[in-house]
Amino acid sequence: MGIIETKYEEKNNTIHGRGESMQYTEPVESLDTKTNDCAKALKSLQEELEAVSYYHQRVATTSDPTIREILAHNRDEEIEHAAMLLEWLRRNMDEWDDALRTYLFTTDSIVAIEGAGAAEGNGALGIGSLKA
Ligand SMILES: [Fe+2]
Repeated sequence: MGIIETKYEEKNNTIHGRGESMQYTEPVESLDTKTNDCAKALKSLQEELEAVSYYHQRVATTSDPTIREILAHNRDEEIEHAAMLLEWLRRNMDEWDDALRTYLFTTDSIVAIEGAGAAEGNGALGIGSLKA
């Protein structure tokens, strides 16, 4: 992000100034640096996921195979960007690490994992009980 974009962000409270989805819901001056950084990461993740959906839909509806290949490549890069942001959130924002460790790379019912954790009163950490 360049200096001009940063000033625009501060003025409009959004990265792109579109007003579609606000990065900040509280006065930015009242946020500590860590919360502000997390807000930027979350907003960026939202944008990456939107881009994934745009490209994915375009791949499905584009007839020219060479354009479709480029769009699929771009979609896959946006997925990579989203994954990078998710990892940053895991390292820097409370609860992400626990949630991702609980739900990612599992094969049990996702809802059952959550239910097992709630039944044991420890969030979603009771997945061991689901495994026979
Ligand atoms: Fe991206």
